[in-house]
Amino acid sequence: IFTQVELAAADPILGLTDAFKADKRTDKVNLGVGIYKNEAGLTPILKSVKQAEEILLATEKSKSYLGMEGVEAYNSAVQGLLFGADHEIIKNKRALTAQAPGGTGSLRVAAEFLMRNTESKTIWVSNPTWANHQNIFKSAGLSIEQYRYYKAETHGKDFDAMVADLKMAKTGDLVLLHGCCHNPTGIDLTEAEWHVMAKLCLDNGLVPLFDFAYQGFGTGVDEDAQGLRIVASQVPELIIANSFSKNFGLYNERIGAVTVVADTESNAVKAFSQVKSTIRGNYSNPPAHGALIVSTILADAELKLLWETELTEMRERIAKMRTLFVETLKSEGVSQDFSFISSQNGMFSFSGLTKEQVAQLKDEHAVYIVGSGRISVAGMTKENMPVICKAIAAVLA
Ligand code: LMR
Repeated sequence: IFTQVELAAADPILGLTDAFKADKRTDKVNLGVGIYKNEAGLTPILKSVKQAEEILLATEKSKSYLGMEGVEAYNSAVQGLLFGADHEIIKNKRALTAQAPGGTGSLRVAAEFLMRNTESKTIWVSNPTWANHQNIFKSAGLSIEQYRYYKAETHGKDFDAMVADLKMAKTGDLVLLHGCCHNPTGIDLTEAEWHVMAKLCLDNGLVPLFDFAYQGFGTGVDEDAQGLRIVASQVPELIIANSFSKNFGLYNERIGAVTVVADTESNAVKAFSQVKSTIRGNYSNPPAHGALIVSTILADAELKLLWETELTEMRERIAKMRTLFVETLKSEGVSQDFSFISSQNGMFSFSGLTKEQVAQLKDEHAVYIVGSGRISVAGMTKENMPVICKAIAAVLA
């Protein structure tokens, strides 16, 4: 049977990591996948995480199964981070959260739940969007439409086009919104634009699906949740898929969550029963370790403070790398204006480099970035910066 199987195309992001690993050149740099590196070029375990793990090692009593929804204390802590502790949604029990494997697993559970149980069969995603979104939604059977988002000429956002396109969406259609640090462009909606988006969803009966994978990498934990909170306070039904891969550095623990917000508590209970059923049919119940780390940190004032400090450090280092990147490009003789990179949010810079230039960077200079021109600024250091900028200068010359 396998002779008929066609070889899959390499994944646009993880396929690059495979190619990078196989590359024998010693001066190679991987700025493809979004993984935070410190100034030494390492991705260390956060101190808050290590301390939580020490507590867990000493106190954990059983490895028995979790329920389909995962660790209860974790699920409540997730809601606190998303909405803020005293939010009306939490008080009125309109939200229910299930732990899920990372952002991808959370999105997939959400998409399958929606596809099987609701009339929402079409999802609108931004153009461009994270390279895995279409793959996830197609795998769940959803149809995909695109709304315009990015304007190449200005390296900015085209909000009017976004609104115009979403006005064509039908009642019940899903709209994928990046909570903050839009991937790949790094360009987010303003507060006023979030209000427009909330009203559009409300007036036209569109259902927001938030992908919220970078909370704390933009401006701060609460600040980055502003868009979500604006929409959630006006639109009665929405879904949030969030991830702690980046902000807790828990990449390989695969820890995220899917949160369903309904108009009433009883509708939330019904929807959530089907979310659990979807989980049961996929992986039955989630692994515990990542959730226990996060809930241990968030339940302990000192550990939480330590985590926030570490998160701030990561965010500020990336911001410094953005500035250094723009400066170094200039000093390497690049005449194009790359100052827009300093105003983008999150881990990535959307460089505007063409597919050909991206290929040249890889083939001739061993510098790996995503085909869309997305560069992981989080992988830059003072040490590799000259190598990266010399390579970019060469492909632009
Ligand atoms: C990325 O966009 O690089 C990350 O979210 C990692 C991934 O799974 O693609």
